[in-house]
Amino acid sequence: MTGADVLLERLFSPYRLGHIELRNRIYSPPHGTGFSQGGLPTDRQIAYYEARARGGAAFIVGGSWAVLPGERSGSANAAYDPAALDGHKRMAEAVHRHGAFLAAQLHMGGRQGPPGNYQSPPMLAPSPLPCPKLHEIPKELEVDESDEIVDRFAQAAANMQAGDWDGVEVLAAQGYGAKRVPLPAEEPRGGGVRGGLRRGHAHPSAHRRRSPPHRRSRVSGGRTHEHLGLRRGRS
Ligand SMILES: Cc1cc2nc3c(=O)[nH]c(=O)nc-3n(C[C@H](O)[C@H](O)[C@H](O)COP(=O)(O)O)c2cc1C
Repeated sequence: MTGADVLLERLFSPYRLGHIELRNRIYSPPHGTGFSQGGLPTDRQIAYYEARARGGAAFIVGGSWAVLPGERSGSANAAYDPAALDGHKRMAEAVHRHGAFLAAQLHMGGRQGPPGNYQSPPMLAPSPLPCPKLHEIPKELEVDESDEIVDRFAQAAANMQAGDWDGVEVLAAQGYGAKRVPLPAEEPRGGGVRGGLRRGHAHPSAHRRRSPPHRRSRVSGGRTHEHLGLRRGRS
């Protein structure tokens, strides 16, 4: 057996991810498709994910499902919108039909929210420091705003769960809104919220508090990766 054979055998062998059993190790990472309309899944978007499941991917993560209505960019999906439920169900069904699992990456842009949102509503971030790319000064989060955002993450996760999705991933990397680890330039200066959402209010905990523990949650953010032990994937 050559090295390539060994690698291929490994690639196509099952993988236990927490409490779900993936049929192989092929993963489709989160990326925006630009195929949603008004934040709702379209037939084209459902077909896009179904094609990946049919092609053999075992685990698919849909990229950047927005948590806050005010900062959803034009092409992003809306995790917060109950009107998306039917489309989410159809998307899950299409992926599950081919034996794959499906999770949504929950996204809050923070100071990297869609440009042009500075005026109304303002971009929200732990500190009033502009993103090096967008140069807009975000509004500094207050503690009650942080708490509300945590609740909105939990509601978004519950919405995806209601759509029969298998889990959520919290995008907490790359300086987006949910990032919790402060950069030196974001260290506390006063009494607000610094370095991300309030300590002790990690989003997955909120999700876990608010919904039955049989879906998978994960925080994607370098040093902030967390895995929650959940019972099972799809029932
Ligand atoms: C068009 C595009 C959009 C992406 N959107 C996201 C995203 O919404 N969230 C994310 O975490 N990564 C995003 N990524 C990064 C991918 O998930 C992936 O990590 C990256 O493309 C590297 O994998 P690859 O070498 O297979 O392309 C995006 C990548 C591309 C090319």
